[in-house]
Amino acid sequence: MATSSTCAENVVLIGFMGAGKSTVGRELARRTGRYFLDADALIEAAQGRAIASIFDEEGEAYFRELEQQSARWMAECVRGSIVSTGGGMPTVVERLREIGTVVYLKLPFEKILERIGPEERRKRPLFHDIEKAEKLFAKRQKIYEAQAQITVDADRPLEEVVDEILRRL
Ligand code: S3P
Repeated sequence: MATSSTCAENVVLIGFMGAGKSTVGRELARRTGRYFLDADALIEAAQGRAIASIFDEEGEAYFRELEQQSARWMAECVRGSIVSTGGGMPTVVERLREIGTVVYLKLPFEKILERIGPEERRKRPLFHDIEKAEKLFAKRQKIYEAQAQITVDADRPLEEVVDEILRRL
């Protein structure tokens, strides 16, 4: 993998809420000298409000349209970067591979619960209710697997996860 921000293909991280997409994405960027983009942060900045407010004020369907828009923009305009997606983006954007190489950070739900505390759950409207989140997790596994070109066991120290991604890219 090129270690500077050349106009090479992007790396697209997918996985459930709390799987560590942003943390892994930042570390990948640091190790490769690429730029890091977080799709949720792009949407929040463009909207001038937090995701929780977008869900509250406009509803989930509107947020999904914003995700589709941001995915189209990344496919057309972003190159050579590390991109982290919101956990639901693979369910509404059919061809994530048009953005770049899709890497799935896979983690059991129990581990996700250990990592994502009450404060972090509050920011995520679809994680307010743990039982519902677990059902969503089960439903999404197949989608993540189908979209991924590389699946990585993310239940390991950050360095190991990043090493494996870099080896397999
Ligand atoms: C969502 C995941 C969130 C955010 C929104 C919806 C989802 O992103 O996009 O709350 O549907 O799984 P993270 O995966 O970064 O938490």
